[in-house]
Amino acid sequence: MRRILGRLWKVTGMVVLIAGMAMSFSGCIDTGDKAEGKNPIKIGVAIYRGDDTFISSVSSYLTSGGKALETKLGRKVIINIADAKNNQGSQNDQVDNFISRGYDIICVNMVDRTAAAVIADKAKEANIPIIFFNREPVEEDMQIWDKEYYVGTDAREAGILQGELLISEYGRNPENMDKNGDGKLQYVMLEGEQVHQDALIRTEYSVKTVLQAGIEMDKLGNETCNWMRSLSYEAMLKWLEKYGSAIEVVMANNDEMALGAVQALREKNMLENGPVIVGIDGIKECLESISKGDIYGTVKNDAKKQAEVILTIGGACAEGKDPKNLVPELDGHYVRVPHYKVTKVNAEVLLKEE
Ligand code: BGC
Ligand code: CA
Repeated sequence: MRRILGRLWKVTGMVVLIAGMAMSFSGCIDTGDKAEGKNPIKIGVAIYRGDDTFISSVSSYLTSGGKALETKLGRKVIINIADAKNNQGSQNDQVDNFISRGYDIICVNMVDRTAAAVIADKAKEANIPIIFFNREPVEEDMQIWDKEYYVGTDAREAGILQGELLISEYGRNPENMDKNGDGKLQYVMLEGEQVHQDALIRTEYSVKTVLQAGIEMDKLGNETCNWMRSLSYEAMLKWLEKYGSAIEVVMANNDEMALGAVQALREKNMLENGPVIVGIDGIKECLESISKGDIYGTVKNDAKKQAEVILTIGGACAEGKDPKNLVPELDGHYVRVPHYKVTKVNAEVLLKEE
C-alpha cells in the first residue's frame, strides 16, 4: 500500500512539474512578443486617495487617455490604478508590486510627498521610468535619476489667478463685496493639507495678489480642511455662527472646500447675496455652481491636460524615445500645466466639454 501511495506521489509531482514548466514556457512566449515590440505597455498608477475628487478625475482621464495612447502607438496599453487610501506604507507596497510584476512605467501621486526618495531609488534600481504627479517631491528627490519626472502645476500661479478673480469683481462691483463699506474685505480662508505644496503657496499668493492691488483685507479666520468638503462645511458653519453676514469673501484652496462653504451658507439661508466665493480646480460640480451664481469663480487645474502629459511622457519612455521631443513643455524633470480663470463667462463652455 505504502509503495502505491509513494508512486502516486511521484506521479502527482511529475504532473505539477510539467504544469509548472508549461507556465514558465508561456512566460517565454511573452518575452518573445516583447522582442517583436508587440507586448503591452503596462502603466502602474499609485494614487494617494481614490475619494479625492480632483485625483479621481485625473485617474479617469488616465484610463480614457490610455485607450487613445493604445490607438496612437498600435500597442496595447494596460493601466492599473492602486489606491493607497492615504497610507504611505500601503503605497510603497503597491509600487513594489508594480516593480516586481515588470511594469514599464510607474506613476505616483505620493501620500507623503517628502517620502519620494525611497520610491525613486527603487525605480532607478529596476530601470523603470517614474512619473510623480500632483504631490510634488522635494527638489533633491527629483534628481535621483534621469528617467524621473514631475507633472503638476505652478501653485503660485493658481494663487495669483484666484486673487485676480477677486480684484476684477471688486473693481466691477465694490459694494457687492465690501458689504459693510469699511473699505476692507473681511474674508475666511479654507486651506488644503498643510504638507501639500499647493495649499501653502496658493494661500500666500492669493492674499498677496489682492493686497498688492491696493485692496485691504481683514482675515476673520482660516482653517485646515485637508481639501475636504465635509471639513470646510463644518468650519464655515462655525464661522457663520460667530460672524454671520460679516463674512464678505470665502477663499478656498480647492473647489471641494468652496462647495462645503456653499452647503453651509445654503443651510443657514445665507447663500443669496452672501459672500463672494472662489475656489481652485474647476471640477464639474463647481462649474455648475458658478453657472448658477452660487460660486463666483475658480481657477482651472487642468486634470485632463495633466493626464495627457503623464501618458505622453510614459508612452515615449516605454518606446525608448526621449519624451522631450513629444512634450516641449518639459523643463528638465518638470512639466507645469498652466491654469486659467473660470467665471460665469466660460463655465458653461467648459461644462459642455466635460
Ligand atoms: C487639488 C486638490 C486635491 C489635491 C490632492 C490639489 O492640486 O487642487 O483638489 O485635493 O491636489 O493632492
Ligand atoms: Ca468690508
